[in-house]
Amino acid sequence: MDERPYGWEEIEESASYISAQTPSRPTVAIITGSGLGAVADDVEAPESMPYGVIPHFPSTSVQGHVGELVIGRLAGKEVAFMRGRVHFYEGYSLQRITFPIRVMHRLGIDTVIVTNAAGGLREDQKAGDLMLITDHINLVGMAGFNPLRGPNDPRLGPRFVEMSVAYDVGLRDLALSVAEELGVELRQGTYAMSAGPTFETPADVRFLRLIGADAVGMSTVPEVIVVRHEGMRALGLSHISNVIPVGGVPSKDQPMSQESLHQEVLDAGREVVPKLSLLIKGILSRMQEV
Ligand code: HPA
Repeated sequence: MDERPYGWEEIEESASYISAQTPSRPTVAIITGSGLGAVADDVEAPESMPYGVIPHFPSTSVQGHVGELVIGRLAGKEVAFMRGRVHFYEGYSLQRITFPIRVMHRLGIDTVIVTNAAGGLREDQKAGDLMLITDHINLVGMAGFNPLRGPNDPRLGPRFVEMSVAYDVGLRDLALSVAEELGVELRQGTYAMSAGPTFETPADVRFLRLIGADAVGMSTVPEVIVVRHEGMRALGLSHISNVIPVGGVPSKDQPMSQESLHQEVLDAGREVVPKLSLLIKGILSRMQEV
């Protein structure tokens, strides 16, 4: 795996390439998680770039993650959609998977909406729910992996990053208000990141519930750390694609391969897209309020 640092010059090169492809100057980036890429289908006058053509962008290998940047207009805002993301479990370093976030900042973006698919850990959740992320538990960081590990370039952000309010309060309030207005049920909760690609054992599930996690997934946390490092605002939305039974996944009554659970995550994603699209468009159209 390529572990060389991707720093200031690479970010510059990548951002210059993107800016040269489109006259649009987006201020909001939206990252779509597993099965959620179709949220970008409504973008007007889209300019699409596969990750593979953008200098230094890492390419995703996961089914359900398209791997393209779509820039255009949505709900009156210039936006950059990252359709699909790369994950730590694919073998990339956290610095590498968060490189596109730094490029977004260089493009002039100040707000990043991060979406993901997550396993629900609460009995009152159901598959298809949307959860506003109020906070996260950085299990991967606590185990020694952080995208900010290593020398800090002060041009990118500070050495130590404050994370007491990682998910912007104004944007959260706006999301709740838009959801209410649209009649979309939006629950709130704490997201825990596990490195994956294994799903949880029953003991993992007991542990995650005990430490206060409401949902678990394999992404988002490193991205939000870099969003904060760069001084941008983060809004996080989880699609609860499956509710994890107390006995863990697979349960002994429902033996399931990892592939079929991933397929379940993708199928559930397709169903939630209209609701998530509506919510994101509503948030974009009122973003000037916050
Ligand atoms: N566990 C971890 N990550 C996930 C899950 C899950 O059950 N569902 C979607 N992403």
